[in-house]
Amino acid sequence: MSNLLEIKNLHAEVEGKQILKGLNLTINKGEIHAIMGPNGSGKSTLSYVLMGHPSYEVTEGEILFNGENIVEMETDERAALGLFLAFQYPHQISGVTLFNFMRSSLNSLEKKRTGIDPQKDKKLSSKSVLQFSKKLSAKMKELGIDESFQKRYVNEGFSGGEKKRAEILQMAMLEPTLAILDETDSGLDIDALKIVSDGVNRLASPERSALVITHYQRLLNYIKPDFVHVLWNGKIILSGGPTLALDLEDKGYDWVKEEYSERIAA
Ligand SMILES: Nc1ncnc2c1ncn2[C@@H]1O[C@H](COP(=O)(O)OP(=O)(O)OP(=O)(O)O)[C@@H](O)[C@H]1O
Ligand SMILES: [Mg+2]
Repeated sequence: MSNLLEIKNLHAEVEGKQILKGLNLTINKGEIHAIMGPNGSGKSTLSYVLMGHPSYEVTEGEILFNGENIVEMETDERAALGLFLAFQYPHQISGVTLFNFMRSSLNSLEKKRTGIDPQKDKKLSSKSVLQFSKKLSAKMKELGIDESFQKRYVNEGFSGGEKKRAEILQMAMLEPTLAILDETDSGLDIDALKIVSDGVNRLASPERSALVITHYQRLLNYIKPDFVHVLWNGKIILSGGPTLALDLEDKGYDWVKEEYSERIAA
């Protein structure tokens, strides 16, 4: 099996504060990895750093995606390579409908990948808008999102659960090679949790991988991880199989703190 993502000795800071302190993680193609860990340990920071958020600075280490170091790349270049992040706190975009937002996201990916802007080519454009519209409607149906949301402004007035579904809709449309989901399960009712998990499982393939950040083992009943990691104080201090998530749910973090205090402090 070959590597999709290889993070080596990653150090990163935000606002001059060091958050990631030597993080190592390898994700092979086709694998699902879950990251758990206490509040403030650096989970969201890791997801921002992977996507190339401009406020987060990598000070040491490497992020290899398909063998290529992406640390210096802009976010749109990373997206074109197949990285995607579903945010813990999705932003609202006033004045932009979900339909137009999704269409321009897909177009810009295509432009980046092929060098051709489908929106600028009249013939291509009318054909692709029809195809796009069909695909969007089909994905929305699968995810149980009402058609009327296409005309609403992105995330404006969406409930917590609706925002999370909209994130999964973006993921389903963009079909990333590596999907990073930051607490996409928070705020979802049981039915929505199943729908969202189905969305992730539907994307799964031997070529695609996912990194799922969560506080709850519950999600991992639906999205079965191959590996579970504990992130603490900016690094991964413990890794295991799915039973690790069960242990954490059962016993909390105290035992981890006791047994791995040296790794946490290092
Ligand atoms: N823009 C920022 N400015 C200052 N500090 C920040 C910033 N972003 C993150 N931090 C700090 O970095 C640390 C890690 O935050 P992060 O959001 O990565 O944690 P997390 O593991 O995702 O936590 P949670 O489980 O609560 O979502 C926290 O102490 C946080 O306050
Ligand atoms: Mg977080």
